[in-house]
Amino acid sequence: MGKGLLDIESLGRQDIEVILERAKFFQPPPGEPYKRHQLLQGKTIVNLFFEASTRTRTSFEIAGRRLGAEILSITASGSSVSKGESLVDTLNTLGAMRPDAIVMRHSASGAPHFLSRYLPIPIVNAGDGTHEHPTQALLDALTILDRRRNLQGLRVAIIGDIAHSRVARSNIFLLSKFGAQIVLCGPASLLPREIGKIAPGVELTTDMEDAIRGVDVIMMLRVQLERQHEASFPANEYFRFFGLRSEHMERAKPDVIVMHPGPMNRGQEISSEVADSQSSAILNQVGNGIAVRMAVLERVLTS
Ligand code: NCD
Repeated sequence: MGKGLLDIESLGRQDIEVILERAKFFQPPPGEPYKRHQLLQGKTIVNLFFEASTRTRTSFEIAGRRLGAEILSITASGSSVSKGESLVDTLNTLGAMRPDAIVMRHSASGAPHFLSRYLPIPIVNAGDGTHEHPTQALLDALTILDRRRNLQGLRVAIIGDIAHSRVARSNIFLLSKFGAQIVLCGPASLLPREIGKIAPGVELTTDMEDAIRGVDVIMMLRVQLERQHEASFPANEYFRFFGLRSEHMERAKPDVIVMHPGPMNRGQEISSEVADSQSSAILNQVGNGIAVRMAVLERVLTS
């Protein structure tokens, strides 16, 4: 069935390298706008978002337009899904209009994998439940590679709500394929032991100071309350134990890269001082999202 981009887990190192190389080609020089291309002229992409999104949805839209494709966005609240239509029926309806690709975000882990078995149209996963968010991991890798020669041997701390984070899972798959050392940190209730199975060798700690010692990259995560059905930690203690603040920074490498996929909650998982510091690459991540999604859309629609 349709060849798309469903996850990082099933990609080989070479596939990832090819996407990142192409993304570098699309990256504009600093301060310049993205160039327009006509590589996807005549193609139609449907952006189907069943969950809230600002940056990912806009980023796919801009990426598609920069390549000359037509792209239309549908959000669940304004669609027939809110009238009780099943996911398969919604997708079949859209599929009957013959778009060239569907970009989708859904709260159910595995939804795009399931649909890609039935639809002949390529599906790009823009985040499925707590499972994967492949374009986020690709843009994170591109952002690290803007500041480091390669990923091999880098020490990367991923901190926060690991249990509910598709961003963490996609990054763990990608970084471990390239030989980075990964340390995961968060409240014990949000740090599932089984995560070690997806990448043997990852370290787990509930101590933020341990996690940050000597790291090249710090990836902060939002506490995803919308996926938590009971309180996992005392909310008013979170910032004290797991919020990234200036005093932590001296434990990391002097040129540490601070990242966050957004949306970030200042004063909860990160202080404004760190989020707006020289070390922060948070807006670079957003910018790189377009280059990566251009590379992904081109690959999915032309190969
Ligand atoms: C993330 C997501 O939706 O998984 N955001 C994003 O796509 N940039 C992370 C989050 O919602 O916390």
